[in-house]
Amino acid sequence: MSFPKDFLWGVSTSAAQVEGAAREDGKGLSIWDVYACIPGMVYDGSTPEVTCDEYHRLEEHVALLKKLGVKCYRFSFSWSRILPDGIGEVNEKGLAYYRKLLDLLKENGIAPVATIYHWDLPYALQLMGGFGNRECVQWFLRYAKVLFDAFGDDVAYWATFNEPIAVYVGYALGFFAPGLKNERYARRAIHHLLLCHGEAVKLFRSYHFPRAKVGIVVDVWHHYPLRADNADDAALADFNNQTAGYGMFLHPIFVGGYSKLCTEYLEQNGLMPPVEEGDFDTIKEPLDFFGLNFYNAIYDRAEGEVRLDGKNGGNFQQSDPSVQGIVFYDALRDVMNVLQTQYDMHLPVIITENGYSAETERAGEDGVIDDEERIKYIREMLTRVKALVEEGYPIKGYCYWSVMDNWEWSAGYRYHYGLAAVEKDSLALIPKRSFGYYANVIKTNGEEL
Ligand code: BGC
Repeated sequence: MSFPKDFLWGVSTSAAQVEGAAREDGKGLSIWDVYACIPGMVYDGSTPEVTCDEYHRLEEHVALLKKLGVKCYRFSFSWSRILPDGIGEVNEKGLAYYRKLLDLLKENGIAPVATIYHWDLPYALQLMGGFGNRECVQWFLRYAKVLFDAFGDDVAYWATFNEPIAVYVGYALGFFAPGLKNERYARRAIHHLLLCHGEAVKLFRSYHFPRAKVGIVVDVWHHYPLRADNADDAALADFNNQTAGYGMFLHPIFVGGYSKLCTEYLEQNGLMPPVEEGDFDTIKEPLDFFGLNFYNAIYDRAEGEVRLDGKNGGNFQQSDPSVQGIVFYDALRDVMNVLQTQYDMHLPVIITENGYSAETERAGEDGVIDDEERIKYIREMLTRVKALVEEGYPIKGYCYWSVMDNWEWSAGYRYHYGLAAVEKDSLALIPKRSFGYYANVIKTNGEEL
């Protein structure tokens, strides 16, 4: 018993976080290019201008993937590199860049897993209201059509969106681009984003690609009641799951409409977006796969709404004695069960992101970063994935976030998730100890964890 032979071992990145060349070869500005320039919005004041410079280093970066032995590479297209103002002229240099990436991946036997939208809306479209403007469905369809025409069946897995909750964070909470703090507008934006998703899936189907598959990537951070036997904690966790977390997307996509609790909340607070006839049918368009980003489990306590965030394998375990005994890694099983039982979601699942971050990492005497904690994290995680696969859960792949340290949105360069470091001035890639560990995991198809 072990991982199936065709298990999709991979790594993930996104355009704004690794490409750099933010204003080169005709690329238009994205909302993150602009937002990052506002003082105080990004932790260290950095911008996506350079990041890992993948735009100029494709050969070197794909060679690193080859060395790692991955079966797939998950990346995203930059909308404003392809359509600088979002809807007008196509930038041929932008298309040529992604053509080159796909060709290099093909030469090296690496399957492309591509995200159409990973948070970087063309700024020109934000000026027209962004996702809050229902016209965004037409903008998104145009962009998707350009991509499907150019690359359709050369991509193995197409994801319409990455973590749509980023739109909620950026429109309601304000600490992601575009930096708005208006929940009513955010709820409209979410509804329109879901329509963009459904319409793009319909468009994809109209091509009848013989191989390519389509899905969406959602991060499922499950909220648990901190005290398992406390009804108020349980109610708060349920509320957060349904109205402020994954339920906002999974219910409309897989069940249909907003959940009862979510609908009540939206109606009672005057937040219900305008819904037109047929919207929920469009949003529920059947998919081929589900991309799961798994990073967190959150524990809610009703009084004072204390939330303990378990990123990085449950750091809270050390700091808060009241949650002793909770093992973060096991939340993956609960998440798989939530998907199946609450959302009737039985599609093949690719874990499209999962990773460990550290703030400071120093190289040892041999020049290699000895990231033991990251290795432990991957081992613990993959032990759970393996058990679930053996039990018949439909997990078909695992992509580590990320192959290299990169630009972490509002956190700038603060957190390092990579299997490889990026040298400050030369931008050379320097594999960490975990790189060798993961390479061996892939080589042995998960036999040696
Ligand atoms: C996002 C990535 C991000 C990662 C680590 C995910 O939420 O999709 O873009 O870098 O988490 O924070």
